[in-house]
Amino acid sequence: MSQDLIGQLRELEADGARAIGGAGSADALETLRVEYLGRKGRLTAILRGLGGLTAEERPAVGAEANRVKEALSALLDERTASLAPGEEAGPAVDLTLPGRRRWKGGLHPVTQVIEEVCDIFRDLGFTRVVGPEAETTDYNFTRLNIPLDHPAADMHDTLYLSDGVLLRTHTSPVQARVMEKFAPPVRVVVPGKVFRRDPYDASHAPAFEQIEGLAVDEGITFVDFKATISEFVRRFFGPGAKTRFRPSYFPFTEPSAEVDVSCQLCSGSGCSACKGTGWMEIMGSGMVHPNVFRAAGYDPEKYTGYAFGMGPGRIAMQRFGIPDIRLLYESDVRFLEQFAG
Ligand code: PHE
Repeated sequence: MSQDLIGQLRELEADGARAIGGAGSADALETLRVEYLGRKGRLTAILRGLGGLTAEERPAVGAEANRVKEALSALLDERTASLAPGEEAGPAVDLTLPGRRRWKGGLHPVTQVIEEVCDIFRDLGFTRVVGPEAETTDYNFTRLNIPLDHPAADMHDTLYLSDGVLLRTHTSPVQARVMEKFAPPVRVVVPGKVFRRDPYDASHAPAFEQIEGLAVDEGITFVDFKATISEFVRRFFGPGAKTRFRPSYFPFTEPSAEVDVSCQLCSGSGCSACKGTGWMEIMGSGMVHPNVFRAAGYDPEKYTGYAFGMGPGRIAMQRFGIPDIRLLYESDVRFLEQFAG
């Protein structure tokens, strides 16, 4: 009896395979699926005979029935796929979907500016160094010729961590740290974050970046400073960029100057980015004050030098036409994506 059923199953398999091979359309294949494997189909009809088998006979016939069912089902799938690509049983991917964009990582616009600036100064003989973000009042102010009761100390709107310990308000304390550690000549650039208790608005952030520069040697003059900065400006902003040195005041430099570059967006004719002036301020600077040398143990009779502190965030805003500083610090990928290389 069981051999009889197994014979019927094999016959069904052979019949089915032949019929599937000859089917010419998806519709015909669907009809065959119902005819052979459907709930009221031929396989089911054969399996009705299971009832007449003994308990020992049943498993072998059941297993054969499953095998035949799987085999026919696989043939149906294969044939359907080969007959109608992209239709009923087409590939599992939807070829009409737009392609997926590859995510490209990239450097933040401020990081791009920092890297470029430091590369240029490296070519000019400057070494890149870093210093601590948590500083003492001694390095942040006193050694830079800013007595704690000096208005410049208030001007910095300092964030204190504890008595005598603060978040540095500028990168200038690293000047003092470098001079304490190394004898002249020194030429360093110092990128890093600085912190001020400023309002958070379109043009202020409580944390932002600076790049400090310091060059000390025998016989360095303001002319060396002007030449170095003019060369930097030409390399960074292009040969057409103009540089302007404006007298200013910092307790740790004398004389002091602010450096302006002709506006990148309007080439100096005046626009909203430069507030109609045609210029943008890129750094504070000056000749290192003798008191700063004294505090560092350098002989101010023997050595002279210049220092500067620039704002790569401001430069990035100008360069890329970014109207609000908060865009730089809110990590919105839709914004940042535009700068991915
Ligand atoms: N530390 C100054 C500031 O944060 C900038 C500066 C650095 C000025 C070095 C002169 C020399 O505004």
